[in-house]
Amino acid sequence: MKNMKNMKKTFYITTPIYYPSGNPHIGHCYTTVACDAIARYKRFQGYDVMFSTGTDEHGMKIEENAEKAGQTPKEFVDGIADKFKALWEFMNISYDRFIRTTDDYHKQAVQNIFKTIYDKGYIYKGEYSGKYCVPDESFWTPSQLIDGKCPECGREVTDAKEEAYFMKMQPFAARIEKLLTETDYLQPQARVNEMLNNFIRPGLEDLCVSRTTFKWGVPVPFDDTHVVYVWLDALTNYITLLGYANGQYNNFEQYWPCDLHMTAKEIVRFHSIIWPAILMACDLPLPKKLYSHGWINFGGKKMGKSTGNVIDPFILGKRYGVDSIRYQILRDMPFSGDFDYTNESMLSRINSDLANDFGNLVSRTTAMVEKYFGSTLPAAKIHEEVDNELIDMASGLSKKVDALIDEPQLGAALAEIFKVVSRANKYIDETCPWILAKDESKKARLAAVLYNLLEVIRITSCLLCPFMPETMPIAQKQIGASGDELSYQNVGIWGKLRPDVTVEKGDILFPRFDVEKEIEQLTAVDN
Ligand code: MSP
Repeated sequence: MKNMKNMKKTFYITTPIYYPSGNPHIGHCYTTVACDAIARYKRFQGYDVMFSTGTDEHGMKIEENAEKAGQTPKEFVDGIADKFKALWEFMNISYDRFIRTTDDYHKQAVQNIFKTIYDKGYIYKGEYSGKYCVPDESFWTPSQLIDGKCPECGREVTDAKEEAYFMKMQPFAARIEKLLTETDYLQPQARVNEMLNNFIRPGLEDLCVSRTTFKWGVPVPFDDTHVVYVWLDALTNYITLLGYANGQYNNFEQYWPCDLHMTAKEIVRFHSIIWPAILMACDLPLPKKLYSHGWINFGGKKMGKSTGNVIDPFILGKRYGVDSIRYQILRDMPFSGDFDYTNESMLSRINSDLANDFGNLVSRTTAMVEKYFGSTLPAAKIHEEVDNELIDMASGLSKKVDALIDEPQLGAALAEIFKVVSRANKYIDETCPWILAKDESKKARLAAVLYNLLEVIRITSCLLCPFMPETMPIAQKQIGASGDELSYQNVGIWGKLRPDVTVEKGDILFPRFDVEKEIEQLTAVDN
């Protein structure tokens, strides 16, 4: 129960559950890494976090892909679900729960939910009419056709009707409109108008919630010639994985309503109209926020399995480090637009921010503490006016980052952190520690300068840790920071590092890459 004494505040965050119809790529990584960074940040802030991800394994596409691969659908999805899990392990994704829609408890819960909505009178049996491709056994809406032909195989389609179950949408239309217009549920706000103009204002049509054209799905509980529509099956994962309508878990009261659903823009309609309608039909509270980000494009097109332009995160992570890849995609995705991935921009981002700015700051600072003080700073320090701007920037940083994480504007949060890192590098040039070191009477001043730099590294590394969880603990060890010095409570307080700290100079955190050479080699890998 949420309000019990001594319970931590909860935070529930979800990725979409991905189709295991092909191997995962850097596009899937974006959403998952973004959620991971937020989940880690919230844990750092002291929240009790539930971070979920998974695979959406039913539907005609999967059935077909399995057949092409000469496997049963279950064998097929088992193989790809394992690949997703392996990728998340490789990318250091700290999810708490991984749901597969073929899990028995989920299937049973979907049937229970379907039955509940039916019993309440919101689901009825009707007729679905559309364009039918006989060889493919698929229904299409007129807008899905390409040149009037089947979008899958290019063959002629015919008018056809089939029996189907429908969910009424009108009872929920006014509440959905309010959700979108009177709350900040859907972010970025620009997407609200798209939903209003394209779907809500023209009048919401009843939703077809069953299919008879394929078998690979959850059977409708009272009519097993039908399987449940994949989106009803998929969306309900967000509650079934907490234990709703099943006995597998017992966390529904604890974590629902969800704090943040994250998806890309192409599935906003499902998450901002259909999902709220399903929840309303079940009399359940609505999630608090849906953030739908843009796409990672490649050569101007959405990166995706069907376009073939997929970038393999395993190759990039192995060559450049998982943290660097995590950083680059989060830093370069704008809040409301798309971004075009290129190997050049990825490498130059790693070189400029990570190798030059952050990595150099740590290696220069620890090298100077070692060289001028034998690794341990003296307690005596002399403060000067020139220190103030840096101290103010670093002390105020965590508040800004907290707010941006809540938006969630991850690229902007990283940009704020790197402003302070750059300011610290500029501070080195302003204070010229190598000149201070030549004058024995300036030792206390030199100690203050180096301490200030270590403090900036302590603060920025704490805030960067959720984004780069492998490298930041190494940086923290190098500057001799540990325990409570790295706590959230102390990240906004200047001067928490012990005054007589001992540094441990270590390996380079982020190596610099020769962009041209790397591009050549990456191109060779591609071919
Ligand atoms: N199975 C549905 C989602 C059901 S959620 C209840 C689905 N699966 S998907 O495999 O197609 O994944 C789509 C999601 O993957 C996007 O919404 C986004 O989160 C992520 N991305 C896939 N390709 C992407 C890009 N090129 N760029 C950014 N995100 C991408 O839709």
